[in-house]
Amino acid sequence: MSEVKESWGSRIGLILAMAGNAVGLGNFLRFPVQAVQNGGGTFIIPYLISFLLMGIPLLWVEWAMGRYGGKYGDHSTPFILDNMTKKRMWKYFGVFGIFTNLGVMAYYTYIESWTLTYTIKSLKGDFIGMPVDQVGSTFDQYVDLASNINTPVWAFIAFVFTLALNIYILSKGLSGGIEKVAKIAMPLLIGFGAFLAVIAITLGDTGRCIDCNSLVGLNFLWEPQFDSLANPKVWLAAAGQIFFTLSVGMGTIHCYASYVKPKDDIALNAMSAGWMNGFVEIVLGASVVIPIAVGYLGLDWVKENAGFMMAFKTMPFLFDQYGSVIGVLGGVAWFGLLFFAGITSSLAMGTPWMGFVEHEFGWSRKKSAIILGVVIFVLALPTIFFFGKGVFDEFDYWTGTVSLVVFALAEVVLFGWVFGMDKGWKEITSGADMKVPAIYRPIIKYVTPLFILIIFISSLIKPLNGELSDWATAFNSLMAGDGWLWANDSIINQMFHLNTGIIWIEDGVFTNMFYIDLSRFLLILTFVGLMAMVAIASRRRRMKA
Ligand code: ALA
Repeated sequence: MSEVKESWGSRIGLILAMAGNAVGLGNFLRFPVQAVQNGGGTFIIPYLISFLLMGIPLLWVEWAMGRYGGKYGDHSTPFILDNMTKKRMWKYFGVFGIFTNLGVMAYYTYIESWTLTYTIKSLKGDFIGMPVDQVGSTFDQYVDLASNINTPVWAFIAFVFTLALNIYILSKGLSGGIEKVAKIAMPLLIGFGAFLAVIAITLGDTGRCIDCNSLVGLNFLWEPQFDSLANPKVWLAAAGQIFFTLSVGMGTIHCYASYVKPKDDIALNAMSAGWMNGFVEIVLGASVVIPIAVGYLGLDWVKENAGFMMAFKTMPFLFDQYGSVIGVLGGVAWFGLLFFAGITSSLAMGTPWMGFVEHEFGWSRKKSAIILGVVIFVLALPTIFFFGKGVFDEFDYWTGTVSLVVFALAEVVLFGWVFGMDKGWKEITSGADMKVPAIYRPIIKYVTPLFILIIFISSLIKPLNGELSDWATAFNSLMAGDGWLWANDSIINQMFHLNTGIIWIEDGVFTNMFYIDLSRFLLILTFVGLMAMVAIASRRRRMKA
């Protein structure tokens, strides 16, 4: 191991960086859409229960694992896990903690670059007076690089610039780069969010349709409805959101926490960053897109059309409805907020790789950062150029969804059962500036692993639309000898294309499935490459010992 010395400059810097890691595009783009698609207020209770039984325990476990690994000079999950057990195979589970970040960073930095372009477009007043269809088609053209190959490919240029910016900041290290950015970005983000929430809530009734009232939108998201408790589909969506938004099961928290001093608090730090993320998500995240869209377009429109791209295809038009001054300010605040939220998260995604190669292979910070840039560039290319073929969603599915659950399950079993709860609890509570509720000891050992296991198995075999009645129908079908009825997004169906069969060429042209499977191959290659690097690093360690 080499001696690249990294550390956090201050406690507030660490908390802001950790909160920045969590607060991201997920809070403002993913959360509102998930909430609407899962019935608004019906989503919120499974979401809060998942936060308490899975999110909080995983935060403590990951911070504790990180600080523990840091004591031994380990700054990435393969060797943090390796150090907690004598069994050699665990370090290969740790590969997920680097792989996930590379995969997510690839498409995430691309979205981040859209937000940068759209901040500039808003500032220039490009959307003033533009009809909604044209705002939508502007975005479609922007991302359609495959057919616009002869026009200036701004999306590509903006991506390269955004990636270079990330790499530059990462090359400046934790206190000199990431911490400085977090100290500027997080307060600005909260300021922009508060401004947008105020204009959204005060919009009230616009009279454009019967229920065109921003408060109707807010109420839809907030009025708890208990019938969702029996709906497995809503639980899966809520748990998935908790994983993504808190960045648990990713490996970033371990890496950041591995630079905390051995006697410093982690319990309160983990809660400060976690609750700050919760505040930004359910207070600010819920108060912008949906209320404004309901205010101008009505609840039915939102229920039918809510999607990730609404942020780019509809929001600029809606801000313009306020008048050109608020239109420009709102657009800049909205896309600026997204950019800050994005960059503080993508920087975190770069650090597990940096920690790994700096400390295992002795690479300098600059070299580690540049090679990271090359890897992300290569991984991002298919998501950019085959965006319309579903490659982007494919990356999100495997690296931003499935991987997190698999790794979280592995680490919580390792922590509670292999490392052991006696040692584990000591790790969580030592140096703690708060009293960690004793109830979390059995929760971490029994409830959280069981919870994640149920989520994992349900995602593997999810039937049809995943509603309770779909499970009953699928069981009946199985019993009658007609086989299981797979949901398209169940892991098993995704793996083997059971519902459609494998079709790579149709009418002489490559199908979307062909591009999707090719991108899977790239992801598998990345995983295998990282496993090989871990095996080499492990041999180097043994030879040095
Ligand atoms: N936690 C980050 C987000 O919410 C990845 O976007």
